[in-house]
Amino acid sequence: MKNLVVLTGAGISAESGIKTFRDMGGLWEEYDVMEVASPQAWESNPELVMRFYNERRKKLLEASPNKGHKGLVELEKYFDLHIVTQNVDDLHERAGSKNILHLHGELKKARSTIDPNLVYDIDGWELKLGDTCEKGSQLRPHIVWFGEAVPAIAEAASICERADIFVVIGTSLNVYPAAGLLDYAPKGIPIFLIDPNDVHTSYKNVSFIKEKAGTGVQKLIDILKEKFIND
Ligand code: APR
Repeated sequence: MKNLVVLTGAGISAESGIKTFRDMGGLWEEYDVMEVASPQAWESNPELVMRFYNERRKKLLEASPNKGHKGLVELEKYFDLHIVTQNVDDLHERAGSKNILHLHGELKKARSTIDPNLVYDIDGWELKLGDTCEKGSQLRPHIVWFGEAVPAIAEAASICERADIFVVIGTSLNVYPAAGLLDYAPKGIPIFLIDPNDVHTSYKNVSFIKEKAGTGVQKLIDILKEKFIND
């Protein structure tokens, strides 16, 4: 089977009621990113950082995967599908996708502040100051904050290097190194980009599907079936 690599961003979860970051009404309109999603913020105001992630986690528990997430599960029948996501929600998992790599962490997990290898599922929506790891240190959100390294980027790059087809869904391609992953895709392979808005990209052979994810992924399935799958 051909390798289908899908890079997803906040837009694929928008129809599940999860806010994006840079759209109208997005999270970064409501909060100053450096006050809630940076190591400096954690140092100076951990209560605010905890509240920011607890609120998002509470909303996530009320959300469900949408047709966009589910369409990618459908494509696993025809392709060796690898999802590289910038999203910290678990909607790809809950939709049933298998190969998922989270670049920016996972909202429903907590990490030790003295040993990054100690990662725990958060039961429910709340992580509190005073919640500690087995070594007694405070637990923090298992999120890659601005200014922190992206540990999964090397694995993501090697996945992209093996792509036969590359799909980008619901990302403004504003944030590096995630936005640079397309550079690792073999030159000349088909690239599809699903987004209801215009997304600036310098890549040449991009087929734009100007739809929301729920509709766009269905259109993508039809195109891929016609082009690459002889039933
Ligand atoms: N379906 C598909 N795409 C959508 C939809 C939708 N229903 N609604 C909005 N979009 C598109 C927007 O047009 C935009 O291009 O989703 C994209 C969202 O862009 P951002 O809000 O910038 O989110 P993202 O690209 O995922 O941000 C990347 O930035 O703040 C950091 O760590 C955070 O992972 C995040 C990273």
